[in-house]
Amino acid sequence: MRLSDEEKAMRDGRDGPTVAAAMDLLIRYGQALGAQELVPTRNVCGTVTASTPFMRDFAATKGGLDAVFSEFNLDSATVVPLPERVRVFTSHLQLGFDPHHPADMGVSEQIVQFYARSEAMAARMGVQMMNTCTPYQVGNLPARGEHCAWMESSAVIYINSVLGARTNAEGRESTSAAMLTGRIPNWGYHLDAPRRATHGVELTIPVETVEDWGLLGYWMGDWVQDRVPVVWGLGEVPNLPRLKHFGAAASSSGGVEMYHLVGVTPEAATLEMATGGRALGEVRRYGRLEREATFEKINAHGQDRGVDYVMLGCPHYSIEQIWEAAQLLEGRRVHANTALWIWTPRAIKSLADRNGYTRIIEEAGGRIMTDSCSAMSRAVPPGTRVVALDSAKQAHYLPAILGVQAWFGTTEQCIDAACTGRWM
Ligand code: F3S
Repeated sequence: MRLSDEEKAMRDGRDGPTVAAAMDLLIRYGQALGAQELVPTRNVCGTVTASTPFMRDFAATKGGLDAVFSEFNLDSATVVPLPERVRVFTSHLQLGFDPHHPADMGVSEQIVQFYARSEAMAARMGVQMMNTCTPYQVGNLPARGEHCAWMESSAVIYINSVLGARTNAEGRESTSAAMLTGRIPNWGYHLDAPRRATHGVELTIPVETVEDWGLLGYWMGDWVQDRVPVVWGLGEVPNLPRLKHFGAAASSSGGVEMYHLVGVTPEAATLEMATGGRALGEVRRYGRLEREATFEKINAHGQDRGVDYVMLGCPHYSIEQIWEAAQLLEGRRVHANTALWIWTPRAIKSLADRNGYTRIIEEAGGRIMTDSCSAMSRAVPPGTRVVALDSAKQAHYLPAILGVQAWFGTTEQCIDAACTGRWM
């Protein structure tokens, strides 16, 4: 791999052993990928806090947070000191629990305190504690063409496709190395050719609601897996919640990290632009039958009509979606046998507080949660057997992770289920 003088200096210890370990990791990682060089980045999204019991035990027995960072963030065989400061702008992704509702999450006070120390450490390093899978909703909005190093599949597909930024789906180790060096291997979606569409989807029905977009994304990901689809035949231009649910679904049923919508996304003003002039490998139509089959597939884990838990906010809800939920709930009560948790970034919750939406939701018996989600924290209200969701991604994961039954539908159907205790 070709290294610049600056990169060689970092590798050789000019900036201390922690940066040297980070550069060593990037070189090994880049070589394994077949990258020829590193590319500069000024925008990283990763995770550096230690929120799991396993990491807490590791810290206790192996030498504190330095040991956790060395092992889990830098893959370093020797313990290196915690970095004093990250080199480039870095946002923190979601955590393993909501530190404001630890009892609901089944998290002990001891873990909360350990986590608070680790969050303070990350903040001192200059990591922005956004604590969300949707940093693009709360201030980290990369520019078109900007090279990034991001984790989190739903965020990766959003910034590649909707914003035209450039990232691969990175991991905890590579994002940590990137935040300390401002470099990431130059391969995959950092390059032009892999971004071009390989598979085509022709819409033969209107795709309009959030539910429609979730179903289309789920169907498309299941088909193309990790290839790059281009979709045409769109009607109304989808907004942020629709694109968020579409990408999250496509990256769950498949491994899609990049897609194009002709006339909407920035690298697909035309079909020719999306494909780069190359012939598509295969084209399929998405119509009524495909939509119905996908709906049945996602709802295959639903049997009992009594709903114990309604989870909204996967990916984390926007303020628009919280507003919608508050309007649907106003003047109603969540059923005594059902819990309603709505997940969102802390920054959006503070807006919901100011706008009075939190009060409306809490007066109805629901709750706004932050920093994590049920899949990440592996936590649902005690005794939950049946869940209702408006997210195809969460409907994909929760039954597999927690063995619960799941119903998938619209936000309105989910709020109705929360208030009646039944899936209609
Ligand atoms: Fe976010 Fe959890 Fe969904 S981290 S994308 S809300 S699975």
